[in-house]
Amino acid sequence: MADASILNAPPPGLSDQRRSDEPCTIVIFGASGDLTWRKLIPALYHLYCQGQLPSPFRVVGFARRDKTDESWRGEMRAGVTEHANGPHDGLERWEEFAANLSYLRGDLNDSEAYTALAARLEQFGEPALRANLVFYLAISPSLFGLAVDQLHEAGLLERLEDDAAGWQRVVVEKPFGKDLQSAQELNAHLIRHARERQIFRIDHYLGKETVQNIMMFRFSNAIFEQLWNREAIEHVQITVSENIGVGSRGGYFEEAGTLRDMMQNHLLQILSLVAMEPPPSLAAEDVRNEKVKLLKSIRPITPETVAEHVVRGQYFAGAINDEARKGYRQEERVDPASNVETYVAAKFFVDNWRWSGVPFYLRTGKNLPLRASEVRVQFRPTPNVLFAARDDLDLQSNALTLRLQPDEGIFLRFNGKVPGNTIATRPVRMQFGYDSEFGAYTPEAYERLLLEVMAGDATLFIRRDEVETAWQIVDAIREGWGDEPITNSEIYAAGTWGPEAAEELLARSGHKWHNPQPEK
Ligand SMILES: NC(=O)c1ccc[n+]([C@@H]2O[C@H](COP(=O)([O-])OP(=O)(O)OC[C@H]3O[C@@H](n4cnc5c(N)ncnc54)[C@H](OP(=O)(O)O)[C@@H]3O)[C@@H](O)[C@H]2O)c1
Repeated sequence: MADASILNAPPPGLSDQRRSDEPCTIVIFGASGDLTWRKLIPALYHLYCQGQLPSPFRVVGFARRDKTDESWRGEMRAGVTEHANGPHDGLERWEEFAANLSYLRGDLNDSEAYTALAARLEQFGEPALRANLVFYLAISPSLFGLAVDQLHEAGLLERLEDDAAGWQRVVVEKPFGKDLQSAQELNAHLIRHARERQIFRIDHYLGKETVQNIMMFRFSNAIFEQLWNREAIEHVQITVSENIGVGSRGGYFEEAGTLRDMMQNHLLQILSLVAMEPPPSLAAEDVRNEKVKLLKSIRPITPETVAEHVVRGQYFAGAINDEARKGYRQEERVDPASNVETYVAAKFFVDNWRWSGVPFYLRTGKNLPLRASEVRVQFRPTPNVLFAARDDLDLQSNALTLRLQPDEGIFLRFNGKVPGNTIATRPVRMQFGYDSEFGAYTPEAYERLLLEVMAGDATLFIRRDEVETAWQIVDAIREGWGDEPITNSEIYAAGTWGPEAAEELLARSGHKWHNPQPEK
């Protein structure tokens, strides 16, 4: 199996131990929201405990609800208690960390709130805390444009020259638009007040160790990279399955659907890392150029080809591990006649020299039997001359699985001889598990992403042309679906691996989905 030590190699564009030495202030818009208490503050606290935050640093939380510094810190402390899962989840250092947190009550629509924000920053004695600013937009996407306009008006955000003293960065959460047009409009809006290198569009999948490892694995192992092409690979499957329904997010989901919510970003991002050409360097622009090139090489799906290449699905009532699940149409804030998809499977071709003719099957859905993300690379079969006469042999083609979550690891399947006086074979597997190999705590995606923002490295963020190209791919599929209602072959019971039509999508090419296995 691959030498696991390569996994220690520096991640894209980075040195081994990331630390931003420049003091800065992180302003979190949406400080009373779910993301802040569940992800952002726990991530910052972990970084603090590991000595990876600059000194000094400040966090200003901004939202409309009435809170004091003390009450907000108390809520954030509860967030850390509930959501921290690393070695730094003790609260011993909470008080010293929390002394850097303050809350500012304000409405994003109110220009005076930004004046108050500027005044708050002015109170910080250290000049770098006023000059180096991260604006984290943990707010509804409908407010992104408004926030940057107002920040600009208040003199807090502008298109900075390379040699400017200090820096101002904007972190934009997903979803980035709902189609190509809205993404272009949002980009145009952002770019009015910030240069591309000041804008950090989040896809938290890119902050995951295992997703970063796709590139490390490919480009630092000769044995795999040499096989990474149409000559050796028959097809690739990317599965991101969730074992929960829409829960309380029915209202949002009715507007989004799985194609926009998952495929446009996470799955296409994974695809681009799996299939892109080696970049000339690990610098942000070089890596992102290759990803964009790859996305542009995906053969467009048109309204004429959508039925042949894409299957959507919607779950109806079922059960997962004996726990009853509602159907999508019975979920809160969901139209009882909704046509919104909770599952998508697509067959893409990458029309370039390396991948011509190799199908990439991507699927993602809600209320599937288990939560897992994995990439399975299916190699071509051997010529099978030696064993052609033996129909009793269980000969299977080699397959390499990159398990991204949970139970993170890499598995290689090959055929082995069963011991004994026969030539019986059986598929066996070599495996590398992150846990058993490294044992150590794997940092949360948001820890990594926040560090990158402070360090000004955009490798793990989505560039403007990348997000727009991904929307182009997805918009064409939506256009193909039009207003057609979901049919019987597109619905699936909660707790199954999706609609029948998704099996047929692969069966037409003689392929079969490989379902992720439960965590050990
Ligand atoms: N939660 C997640 O796990 C997650 C995952 C991926 C992406 N995201 C993205 O992250 C962003 C935030 O998500 P969330 O789940 O944290 O949302 P949320 O819980 O609804 O929080 C929204 C925040 O925005 C604030 N807000 C709303 N209107 C405001 C206004 N006019 N002025 C000032 N503040 C205002 C709210 O505070 P007040 O009501 O106190 O004003 C609240 O703090 C969204 O873009 C979402 O798509 C979230």
